Amino acid sequence: MFTDFISLAELTGAQIIELLDLADALKAELKAGKRGQPLAGQTLAMIFEKPSLRTRVTFETGMGQLGGHAIMLETGHIRLGERESVPDVARNLERWVDGIMARTFSHDTVVQLAEYARIPVINALTDKLHPCQILADAQALREHKGDFENLKVAFVGDGNNVSASWFHFAARIPLNYTLVCPPGYEGAQDVIAFAQREGAGEIAVSHDIEAGLADADAVYTDVWASMGQEEESEARAKVFAPYQVNARTMALAKSDAVFMHCLPAHRGEEVTDEVIDSPRSIVFDQAENRLHAQKAVMLTLMQRDADGLNRKQRQRGGI
Ligand code: CP
Ligand code: NVA
Repeated sequence: MFTDFISLAELTGAQIIELLDLADALKAELKAGKRGQPLAGQTLAMIFEKPSLRTRVTFETGMGQLGGHAIMLETGHIRLGERESVPDVARNLERWVDGIMARTFSHDTVVQLAEYARIPVINALTDKLHPCQILADAQALREHKGDFENLKVAFVGDGNNVSASWFHFAARIPLNYTLVCPPGYEGAQDVIAFAQREGAGEIAVSHDIEAGLADADAVYTDVWASMGQEEESEARAKVFAPYQVNARTMALAKSDAVFMHCLPAHRGEEVTDEVIDSPRSIVFDQAENRLHAQKAVMLTLMQRDADGLNRKQRQRGGI
């Protein structure tokens, strides 16, 4: 049983499908105008060391829709790991709030928060992973393509945190995943090796855009320089230029392939307007599903049983 949401690699395929089914149910309920209060009175503390639009709005809105509320911690004020150690921040927060959502530079910060807090911790992006994004992406992909089996997702661009979480997803859910990137930008080798070892589908890395996109059902891209890599932007723009997703690139995939992007997009760099604004683009479905997918995660981790315990407290033997 997972008691935090740090990495998709820590979940089984069945647990991921359960979250996706719950996300679908929550989406349908919301569209039908129904709102329960399963997290009534609960508080989520949100820590952002990096900027955000989607993550901030969807977590805060999601908590409200579940009957609870969220508070934003100013990183300039708490200065995680500087003003106070990460374990001490965790040991304070657990006394007041019911869950922590954190977007940090170092992945280890989120891991430490989860280790020391007796309340659930949700990874809202680190330099290494972005599991909430891929959960929402998978929900959108399933809505457009049905079952995952035999699908091929081709990620074109940097082997970054988003790609790494896609490798983890492909390790757990049988589909084919290919990262198409310039040599040297594959990302963490251990993540790729893990997916190739554990995945039931074909997991590949290619530097050849034509071969990599062949038979793709979804073409995914993300910025060439992630948050924290701004200084490399210029150099990266040159390296990644041949990997831009444009009409010519999309023509290499299946004729009914969808276009995906986690957003924010740097239009004219990794993707052209003609692609992101085309009917094949499902980027705003992905963005919408951040709300539903994260509500599924929060509900699963934070809902309390008859004894008033969430699943982490239950597993650790009480409060
Ligand atoms: N995709 C995503 O995480 O968006 P934000 O950075 O705006 O939260
Ligand atoms: N790879 C990007 C994702 C933004 C949601 C970044 O880390 O900046």
